[in-house]
Amino acid sequence: MKIALLGDSHLIAEDDPYRGLHGVRSFFKDAWPSFQRLLRRINEESPDLTVMLGDLVDWFSPQNVAFGLDLMSTLRSPWHMVPGNHDIEAPSGGLGQSRFDVNADRGRLAHWHSLGVDLSTRAIDLGSHRLVLLDNSLSDVIAGTEESLRTLLGRGDPTLLCAHVPFDLPSIREYILSVDPTRNLKKYVQSGTPGLYRDVLRGRVTDIFTAHLHFSNVLRDESTRFHLRGLSTSVHDPNRNQTTIAEALVVEHRNGVLTHRAVTAD
Ligand SMILES: [Fe+2]
Ligand SMILES: [Fe+2]
Repeated sequence: MKIALLGDSHLIAEDDPYRGLHGVRSFFKDAWPSFQRLLRRINEESPDLTVMLGDLVDWFSPQNVAFGLDLMSTLRSPWHMVPGNHDIEAPSGGLGQSRFDVNADRGRLAHWHSLGVDLSTRAIDLGSHRLVLLDNSLSDVIAGTEESLRTLLGRGDPTLLCAHVPFDLPSIREYILSVDPTRNLKKYVQSGTPGLYRDVLRGRVTDIFTAHLHFSNVLRDESTRFHLRGLSTSVHDPNRNQTTIAEALVVEHRNGVLTHRAVTAD
């Protein structure tokens, strides 16, 4: 079993109508060729499956979504996706706005679904492992998710979990603030349902893969590894004084051992 994980490509299409935002978000708008190179790099790895961990687009518009799906269609492996906050946030001030103000609406998931992209909480069987995909895009989960997860985890297979927002653990909060003391933890951990890991997932998942932070590390809690993933585009983000190289994670299960390694586009 071999999986490639991507996240946070923040794509902006040339024909997206919110033209006033293209300049202020040029650090993302100009970055898509590095994402395209990373997709080629993933094809060279020939994974069984690729998972996009959310924020495929920088904001929701039909043009941005179409652009993102067009690039993802170059993957030779099947791919799945969990939603990120940016995938369901649209500019709130009309077409002429030049400030990055957006509002979120999970109703926009229906547009993705109409294009064949299922972003609901669900599980995929990989033979040796079960892979759970969780919608926690807005730092919470929708009603009924705890019960769904208990059912999805009920078989007791070794389980991996993919979600956009990191879980709300003291060690993760502490780590995020150690990298960037300005982060609002209400948004950057799953603060809307802080007990979800402790009450439902602890002891039932071996590895949790999340995005959203735009920086990478691996943290542990007992037997669970938390893979905090960075951007899959090469970007200098002037708002965060960070430069990143487009990166994906390749996870392989061989001879009973789960290994993970980063691959880059450059
Ligand atoms: Fe992001
Ligand atoms: Fe995000």
